[in-house]
Amino acid sequence: MPSITVRNLNNSVKQALRERAARNGRSMEEEARLLLAAAEVPAPKHIVSFDDASSSRSATSMNTEAGGKKILLIIGGGIAAYKCLDLIRRLKERGISARVVMTNAAKEFVTPLSIEALNHDKVFANLFDREAEHDIGHIRLSREADLIVVAPATADLMAKMANGHADDLASTVLMATDKPILVAPAMNPRMWSHPATRRNRKTLERDGVLLVGPAVGEMAESGESGKGRMAEPYEIIRSIENLLDTSPKPLAGMRAIVTSGPTHEPIDPVRYIANRSSGKQGHAIAEALGRAGAEVILVSGPVNLPDPSHVETIHVETAREMQQMVETALPAKIAVMVAAVADWRSTDEADEKIKKDGGKGPTSLKLTENPDILKGLGHHENRPDLLIGFAAETENIEEHAKTKLERKKADWILANDVSADFGVMGGNQNSIKLLSASGVETWPQMSKEDVAKRLVDRIANHFDWTTTSI
Ligand code: C5P
Repeated sequence: MPSITVRNLNNSVKQALRERAARNGRSMEEEARLLLAAAEVPAPKHIVSFDDASSSRSATSMNTEAGGKKILLIIGGGIAAYKCLDLIRRLKERGISARVVMTNAAKEFVTPLSIEALNHDKVFANLFDREAEHDIGHIRLSREADLIVVAPATADLMAKMANGHADDLASTVLMATDKPILVAPAMNPRMWSHPATRRNRKTLERDGVLLVGPAVGEMAESGESGKGRMAEPYEIIRSIENLLDTSPKPLAGMRAIVTSGPTHEPIDPVRYIANRSSGKQGHAIAEALGRAGAEVILVSGPVNLPDPSHVETIHVETAREMQQMVETALPAKIAVMVAAVADWRSTDEADEKIKKDGGKGPTSLKLTENPDILKGLGHHENRPDLLIGFAAETENIEEHAKTKLERKKADWILANDVSADFGVMGGNQNSIKLLSASGVETWPQMSKEDVAKRLVDRIANHFDWTTTSI
């Protein structure tokens, strides 16, 4: 396959790709590449993004709470400055506009021209630029953004910030601002662990400056590795979105536990029992709860998804590990058990790979039933106030779901027809019936993200109603 141009995809596919990429913190091209890899389609030589003005305008329609906000990006002088090109593009995809200030050192690593071409805006660099001072000036630059982001923040820039220097445009803007500041440090590991940097970092944190990263990894300098790599653009974006998100938080102050994905039950060191669950629905619910202000602990089996934002994710393999982590996370106001927990595990996990035993036919596998995590919570002394389970059914959906509601002592069961021809298991759509003591609600077929949002709305309403009715 020679190439794909994202711009030429039809609008609904493009929108779905854009939203998916935003959710996963990837660029649209990366997302397309991963989708093709998952579908085992040979990767095309080129996946071309749209970078013209009209498409960046259409990107502003992306549904993120941070869309329409403005940031001031200060690019410091480090090798990681090249990552800012990707950062700017991802910001544009999300409808977040960026004004850019570069330090003199930054211009040694990326050219203002490349930033201007990508950002369709002038780069500000000179404190005494008479034209710019006339037009916009450092005070306005520092005040008109919703957030200031310093990336990469070099040891020198952090030192200047911590000590109140204001001898160039970047440091002057940072002194003059009344807006929150997020810094993404990037430096050699020795510089990061130097007592001076440690002191400066503490000072900055005391001053209310927020940090993202640095990460541990290879340095651009050959042969060096350690803590000091700048956070990846998608991580910086995630922090920016969190800081810019001013949406209502109806679940603030509530703790929620969510399970997601399948579990893997080992048979021997190389084989395991599993199922087709992708974790998409559970992860979407965890993220939506987090966005609504809940403190979310997501206990996830093995999945091929990034950890959602706004959430603390704990990774487990087996049902018993999942149960232990869920119970450790108690007490919680809300629990949503979405995981497709394997019903059985091998009774005797073999220490060595089980051999075929030439010609004698398959060895039989003795199975033991796994603990039912949802049922365990339903009967727990610390039972969550609102306990929600899922029921994946292929027939008699309501009837089976009702039995589960009672047997597991859940408050709500979200039943889904996994035999539906749009492929619930692993797919992106879902069709839900919500069963509770007060009856059955049938929701239309919708995306798993929309199911998550609708469920979170229902949860928020439930607590409103509970409090006002007391
Ligand atoms: O009994 P069944 O597996 O159909 O029940 C589904 C619901 O119970 C889901 O909410 C699932 O997360 C939960 N469950 C569980 N532990 C198990 C089996 C199911 O928490 N061992």
